[in-house]
Amino acid sequence: MINFNQITKIFKSDILVKPFVALDNVSFEIPEGSMVGFLGANGAGKTTSLKIIMDFIRPTSGEVLFSEKLGKTNFEVFKNIGFLPERPYFYQNLKGEEFLKFLGNISDVHASDIQQRIKYWAPRFRIDHALNREIRTYSKGMLQRIGFLATIIHEPKIIILDEPLSGLDPIGRKELKDVIVEVHKQGKTVFFSSHIVPDIEEICDRVVFLKEGKLVYDGSVDSLMRQGHSSFEIKVMATSLPKLNAPIQNLSTFAGSITVVEVMPENLRKIIEELYSHNLEIVGVESKKPSLEEIFYNIKG
Ligand SMILES: Nc1ncnc2c1ncn2[C@@H]1O[C@H](COP(=O)(O)OP(=O)(O)OP(=O)(O)O)[C@@H](O)[C@H]1O
Ligand SMILES: [Mg+2]
Repeated sequence: MINFNQITKIFKSDILVKPFVALDNVSFEIPEGSMVGFLGANGAGKTTSLKIIMDFIRPTSGEVLFSEKLGKTNFEVFKNIGFLPERPYFYQNLKGEEFLKFLGNISDVHASDIQQRIKYWAPRFRIDHALNREIRTYSKGMLQRIGFLATIIHEPKIIILDEPLSGLDPIGRKELKDVIVEVHKQGKTVFFSSHIVPDIEEICDRVVFLKEGKLVYDGSVDSLMRQGHSSFEIKVMATSLPKLNAPIQNLSTFAGSITVVEVMPENLRKIIEELYSHNLEIVGVESKKPSLEEIFYNIKG
């Protein structure tokens, strides 16, 4: 649906300041119907990439290609994109509902359709109780919700969200993630940035990962998860262990009286036999699959 093709962005602010390479030949795809997480630490280049997709800034080289399904002209394409910026601007004196109607209006949505969409989505975004209040009275979480709702009021084919979950409390994150999932289930392609790995692991099928302006990974979450090896953790009732012959990955103490031995699957049986031969009591064996976060730390490391 969107092809971010060999994009480099160099910021040259001043003749005396060294040019800064914010994106270095970055390519990735957002396939139609997918839910793609855009991951990267602060300053990795996520917002810069999204601004380039939205044509707010131009790349130094490379191009963004849109599939014909989004539209044939730029006008059509951007009408089919819903974008939530990192720092959205709100008309403070408008009431929530007036703001949504205003945005629906400038996107040429029929008044009765706007009304219907507000009625359907506002409770899902848990903002219905505040629609008659001026936006200047909204909390950060409420701004986040109304901003997100505004991105779908014109029923775009793809929504692009820059850190939609930032600054929300755990319940707020869960609620907005549920809405993202619902919007996606209704057939929309979703691309959203975050620096929180578990959020992406939980709801995305693909992930694009940037590190310091370079692409580190673009592909499915599943195949990335398979790259990580799984190990086992054996919990032993002991404060220390005798020397073991079979190789172990890691040893740690837990709650003062339990030692945790991490082993690879091929050594599990040997270690358990050795522990029993020393008359040690095993109180638990667990498979330990690395999280996406650990896999990324390894890529970074
Ligand atoms: N107009 C600009 N002039 C100079 N440097 C810029 C400009 N815009 C962005 N940068 C730099 O480009 C890098 C990437 O910034 P960007 O905002 O894309 O990061 P990000 O991944 O969105 O980070 P965050 O998670 O903090 O939002 C940063 O080092 C930033 O300082
Ligand atoms: Mg950003």
